[in-house]
Amino acid sequence: MAAARITVNGRETPISPAAPHTTTLDFLRERGLTGTKEGCAEGECGACAVLVARPGVNKPTDWVAVNACLVPVAALDGQEVVTAEGFSTPGEPGTPPALHPVQEEMAVRGGSQCGYCTPGFICSMAAEYYRPDRCPRTASGADADPGSGTGGGADAEHGPNGFDLHALSGNLCRCTGYRPIRDAAFAVGTPTDEDPLARRREQSPPAPAATAYTRDGSEFLRGSTLAETLLLLRERPDAVVVAGSTDWGVEVNIRSRRARCVVAIDRLPELRELRVASGRVEIGAALTLTEIERRLDGEVPLLAQLFPQFASRLIRNGATLGGNLGTGSPISDSAPVLLALEASVVLADADGEREVPLRDYFTGYRQSVRRPGELIRAVRIPLPLAPVAAFHKIAKRRFDDISSVAVAFALDIEDGIVRKARIGLGGVAATPVRALATEAALEGRPWAAQTVEAAALVLRTEGTPMDDHRASAGYRSAMLGQSLLKLHAHTTEAVSS
Ligand code: FES
Ligand code: FES
Repeated sequence: MAAARITVNGRETPISPAAPHTTTLDFLRERGLTGTKEGCAEGECGACAVLVARPGVNKPTDWVAVNACLVPVAALDGQEVVTAEGFSTPGEPGTPPALHPVQEEMAVRGGSQCGYCTPGFICSMAAEYYRPDRCPRTASGADADPGSGTGGGADAEHGPNGFDLHALSGNLCRCTGYRPIRDAAFAVGTPTDEDPLARRREQSPPAPAATAYTRDGSEFLRGSTLAETLLLLRERPDAVVVAGSTDWGVEVNIRSRRARCVVAIDRLPELRELRVASGRVEIGAALTLTEIERRLDGEVPLLAQLFPQFASRLIRNGATLGGNLGTGSPISDSAPVLLALEASVVLADADGEREVPLRDYFTGYRQSVRRPGELIRAVRIPLPLAPVAAFHKIAKRRFDDISSVAVAFALDIEDGIVRKARIGLGGVAATPVRALATEAALEGRPWAAQTVEAAALVLRTEGTPMDDHRASAGYRSAMLGQSLLKLHAHTTEAVSS
């Protein structure tokens, strides 16, 4: 197996002697690429953003921005990375380098003051600059983001150049203020044919490398196939399994956790398929949320509502459904949605596969029926989908925040009668749960104020909400009831017309 290495700004560099837990951020800074900054070390500020060449959705390669503070550098073995230092073009001797168009717009529009956040903004902005399906928007605001809450028309979150401001949702700036940064984003043009990073998109991304990186008694391993990986997990059931490392990276940085063995599954082809056939949507557990969002393109409306509210674009570029369910978090945002969609998970180990309905998957706080040596291969969503669907996330911030309460509804309403109701809840119990009593209170009854008000009272009593620093138990219960009333208010007109 070749020695682990990474290509940074076109230059190949060995990963050794970095420890297997060394973050890409620390690796880059230790090699003098100090444009990449550390702000929070937990995926919340974007000061560490870099670009990685990944399999593209509309072209062979996409430039994808990720949080370098969360990704172990060993996970990028064989991959190509561009940092803020890699954008400008060196000038003639004695002249300054020519700025990249994104840097130029940030400079002339006053998008940078102290400059600490700027390299991260440049990387996130460049990823959107190079997004192949970015195109100028119509005056009517076509392609409005379902999570933006603007409901179409003029859209403050998309520029006339098609720039989606959600691309910057994971970048914080403490001193400039966001208006000049938004002005720069909305002013960037389209890459020229000579642009080397634009040209790079036409070639295949680096093939996934099998990795066995060992140092000081710790290992970072990546198999080439699912079968190989499952055998590895049978031998090493204590291994930490990572995809985008958006959860494990926080554990390493903030809680100083270390693992003897980490196994990466994010590039396994068997976990990266998305199929819509045979009466279901099957989503590979290692596809990133951004890839799912772009590939489904609204085909599952409840997921389309979820994605813009799920963390930031930088996180969604690494996070996976398999990871979000694998952690078993009671405040996972995907779980309530997938419960409402009656999804199941396909669990695989070296002996074969089994399918478990998601409502039977969670067994306790951060616990599930998944056995040591087993991993989530895919998530299955049955078709047809319920026509009335909504995801309500109640959090302190509108975007890039952790839910106090999350509620997902999938309702079949025919001739004004609720034929079927599926409701998933997050943040109100030790696990994500279905609101079974509320579903029963709705089914077979008219979708009318009287039914909904009675069901909202039932919904307030579902789960066992707690008081904590995000919200009180009383507030959480109240929000559950309000959520159903809000859905009714939003849908009454559509259903009765
Ligand atoms: Fe803040 Fe990485 S340092 S997101
Ligand atoms: Fe100072 Fe953004 S320019 S933090």
